[in-house]
Amino acid sequence: MQAVVQDRYGSPDRLRLRDVPRPEVGDDEVLVRVRATSVHPDVWHVVSGRPVVLRMMGSGLRRPKYPVPGTDLAGVVEAVGSTVTRFRPGDEVFGESLRGFSWRNGGAFAEYAAAPEEGLARKPATVTFEQAAAVPTAGYILLLNLPANRVRPGARLLVNGAAGGVGALAVQLAKARGAHVTGVDHTRKLDLVRALGADEVLDYTRDDFTRRDERYDLVVDIPGNHPFAACRRVLTPDGRYVLIGHDHYGRVGRRWLGSLPRFGRLAVLSLFVRNLRRSGSRAPSKREAMETLRAHLEAGDLTPVIDRTYPLSQAGAAIRYLADGDPVGRVVLTA
Ligand SMILES: NC(=O)c1ccc[n+]([C@@H]2O[C@H](COP(=O)([O-])OP(=O)(O)OC[C@H]3O[C@@H](n4cnc5c(N)ncnc54)[C@H](OP(=O)(O)O)[C@@H]3O)[C@@H](O)[C@H]2O)c1
Repeated sequence: MQAVVQDRYGSPDRLRLRDVPRPEVGDDEVLVRVRATSVHPDVWHVVSGRPVVLRMMGSGLRRPKYPVPGTDLAGVVEAVGSTVTRFRPGDEVFGESLRGFSWRNGGAFAEYAAAPEEGLARKPATVTFEQAAAVPTAGYILLLNLPANRVRPGARLLVNGAAGGVGALAVQLAKARGAHVTGVDHTRKLDLVRALGADEVLDYTRDDFTRRDERYDLVVDIPGNHPFAACRRVLTPDGRYVLIGHDHYGRVGRRWLGSLPRFGRLAVLSLFVRNLRRSGSRAPSKREAMETLRAHLEAGDLTPVIDRTYPLSQAGAAIRYLADGDPVGRVVLTA
């Protein structure tokens, strides 16, 4: 089969399409004929090898241990392992090729990819392969971090970075659950944020949300461009703050550790500050998260917006466009 191959960390321009063997399928895995796969910030992290600490977290110290990038996929089941019960050849599925939460190449930038059964769900007929492929990793990180019991009818939410991969899903999910949503993003993206359903939009080039008089039950902060102390000002006394974190393709965050020190500080602070506590809601398993995303896609609550699609052979150009081209919506590869 053909797959995008990464020999070393660095520029995405080094990525090449090559002939490689089809992946073998483990007992609990599904072999998927990939039709679409998404390009997202974590793909950039592993291709560039930055922050350097990720190389020590399973990605490969000197060079990528797993040579084929990509984690999100949508496609058609080709074969299943011996213990797989939920899928069979011919099913249309979408999901993540990585197990649990890890920071490494996942093999999705290929004609065929193996994915654990728990990371897949059936693709609703109402969404395209491209749309479905835009959802898994961003959706999983969102659902892992979202205190679900805070997203309820009448709750007031602010999503900072509302037009991005994670933010767009946060806005739509919160609206589907009856919350009042304020979305913050760049001037160019505010029409999209309105179209996603946000009740109010703020332009981060003009408004500093941390200086407004509004108070929120939940702030979902993707770019993390304000210190927590400033964000806390706009929380209700029992409100919650969730940082997703974004290194802005190496422009922010440290070369070696990225945003990890900031997450560490918040984790320590959460022992003392209730606005940082999870507030009793359990984090979903990946299977549960994928089923939640499937249900929202099927119900029409989530409509992924695609900015551009590229063929697999132009994976490098697609990653470059993600990092430097200011896309409005998701960037997707088709295989
Ligand atoms: N997407 C995924 O599948 C995924 C999966 C796992 C983890 N993550 C992590 O989650 C983080 C977010 O990913 P993402 O896909 O949502 O990124 P994204 O698509 O780049 O979205 C970030 C959004 O924040 C906006 N933004 C930048 N600076 C801002 C500011 N000062 N105030 C308000 N908004 C600002 C960006 O707009 P501009 O055009 O102005 O920059 C962009 O619309 C990344 O760090 C990534 O590692 C993402």
